[in-house]
Amino acid sequence: MTLTEAQTLHFELAAQIWQHDHAYYNLANPAITDPEYDRLYRRLLDIEKEFPDLITADSPSQRVGGAPLKEFKSVQHLNPMLSLDNTYSENELREFVSRVRRLLPGESLDWIVEPKVDGVAISLRYENRVFAIGVTRGDGTTGDDITANLRTIRSIPLRLPDGAPNMIEVRGEVYLTRTGFAKLNDDRIALGEPPFANPRNAATGSLKQLDTRAVAKRPLDIVIYGVGVVEPKQQDLDRQAVVLEYLKTLGFKTPERTWPCHSPDLLIDAIRELDEIRHSFPYETDGAVIKLDSFLLRERAGFTAKSPRWAIAFKYAAEQAETKLKAVTIQVGRTGALTPVAELEPVLVAGSTVSRATLHNEEEMRRKDIRIGDTLVIEKAGEVIPAVVSVVLSKRSGNEKLFLFPNKCPECEAKVSRSIGQGDEPSGVVLRCTNSDCPAQVRGRIEHWCRRGAMDIEGGGDVLIGQLVRAGLVRNAADLYTLRLDQVAGLERMGEKSALNFLHGLEASKQRDLWRLIFGLGIFHVGTGVAKSLARNFASLDDLRRASREQLTEISEVGDVIAASLAQWFADPRNQELLERLREAGLNFQSSLHTVTAAPKRFSGKTFVLTGTLPSLSRDEAAARIESLGGKVSGSVSKKTDYVVAGDEAGSKLEKAQKLGVSILDEAEFLKLCGE
Ligand code: IVH
Repeated sequence: MTLTEAQTLHFELAAQIWQHDHAYYNLANPAITDPEYDRLYRRLLDIEKEFPDLITADSPSQRVGGAPLKEFKSVQHLNPMLSLDNTYSENELREFVSRVRRLLPGESLDWIVEPKVDGVAISLRYENRVFAIGVTRGDGTTGDDITANLRTIRSIPLRLPDGAPNMIEVRGEVYLTRTGFAKLNDDRIALGEPPFANPRNAATGSLKQLDTRAVAKRPLDIVIYGVGVVEPKQQDLDRQAVVLEYLKTLGFKTPERTWPCHSPDLLIDAIRELDEIRHSFPYETDGAVIKLDSFLLRERAGFTAKSPRWAIAFKYAAEQAETKLKAVTIQVGRTGALTPVAELEPVLVAGSTVSRATLHNEEEMRRKDIRIGDTLVIEKAGEVIPAVVSVVLSKRSGNEKLFLFPNKCPECEAKVSRSIGQGDEPSGVVLRCTNSDCPAQVRGRIEHWCRRGAMDIEGGGDVLIGQLVRAGLVRNAADLYTLRLDQVAGLERMGEKSALNFLHGLEASKQRDLWRLIFGLGIFHVGTGVAKSLARNFASLDDLRRASREQLTEISEVGDVIAASLAQWFADPRNQELLERLREAGLNFQSSLHTVTAAPKRFSGKTFVLTGTLPSLSRDEAAARIESLGGKVSGSVSKKTDYVVAGDEAGSKLEKAQKLGVSILDEAEFLKLCGE
């Protein structure tokens, strides 16, 4: 065979295989038998063996994966990949429709309802009709180049049919089939590996693997629901319904079903119907996506910083399941609280396997009369932590046992006491370990310090912190900054690389904003909101430490309870020593938020409450204006509120403002106050 003959034959075979893949994987309508398919495929491989130059990126042989990758390259998206706003009720959905109507007065609005596929958002780019690059959503602006992994998904066409545009980017969701997920977890349990919590995590985990051959073994699939950049521009692709049809003609798998709708009532019918049939889909569907059909109108409706104004996700309510309570274990948190945890017979709810759930506290267990051996109703909505709803009393045998709470801490054997309430909990409900050196508390405090919402220390996950505490290397946050490479790298399952990564993470954390440090200290009642507000009001940690009770309570988010909690924390000599050591380690004690507001701004010291729907500003936009002018946005109306900005359908907050005599502004008045 000459090279030219081989080239012709190779292309013919590839084209046949592309077609058969499409018929089999996308249309579920195979045109040939498996042995016939295998014969075509083997001939293709034979040719590639003899003429390796013929192996192209779009060859069907590239679906099985090659040598493992070293890393994923970062790729910038042509247009940002946004996410959607969520709603949970039909009323909120009607409000959304009214909002869009106000944005587009006089227009007749056509909608389309699609299943919300619970997977991983990706974009695929085709250049000269060949699948060229596939990218994860990442942070919305840049993602990982996972092209090699995506090629293993058989329903992704490697080449588009004749007549396709020179360049087209399509967007969709990669998922793990329900059955594939169940089997994957069975296999992992059999191998002694931890099962994935839900199909979405399993899909993310699968796509993140650098070994493409391993990815090829995962039952991944894809749904495509949109187009990004197309060149040359196709004028007739001006509606979602048309785009979905067009995507099908290009060989993509599109949503199982969609509903065109002309009114809110029809939207609600469609969402209810989808709820009934969604469990028959091959993928987990956690909601419906409602989109404006016309692209012209979409453009006019526009975007907020995070999401389009012309679309919304409607999330279905929690799913319930019954399962047996095998045992109750006790977890000790960073504040010493003893939390009972239900150890359950594993059960699949809302797409994830649930084997543990919190039982909150003793009183809650008594109230629900939960006993070991009981059959429980548990509930889970998407990513939400599973909760115990009730006991199925009809399934009691009489052999169930009451759980007795320990009078010693299960971690350190110290005495436990029914402490004064912390946070929202009433006094006496929670049992606490009385030993502040309890390893569980120590671990919890350091885990909290490292958390993403606090000091955000890369590589400082719970497992590593647990190891460091157990090895006696750290007792508090300041100890972290004394760690040496050999100490960290010497821990079990830690390589030099991850140890270095963690040490770099610690180094980077020294420059964090002061509010993160304040939050990271884990002071009772000081959440991120309070921490930020303290950092806005004090130039440094030292100023905060020296602040009087009066100075503190002048801040609108800070009441007596928080002021007392801060005073108590700063008075403890152990905490004073901790702060001195953090200072010596070089941590930033200066607040950048404070310098920003140092010069009094128009709204300095003013608190706003937003309620109802404003005619043109979204809530986020109004809030951004207030904050940039030095004001604060609060969720509830009180005597401390200076202004309530009220729009359409404002309810109880407006009434309360009227009662308290707080100034009420409409949008126009608000904008005027902003100086616009
Ligand atoms: S459209 C501008 N359609 O849901 C955003 N998204 O929270 C356009 N998703 O990131 C997204 N099914 O990953 C759209 N039929 C569907 C979807 C869908 C699932 C995901 C997508 C997006 C997230 C939004």
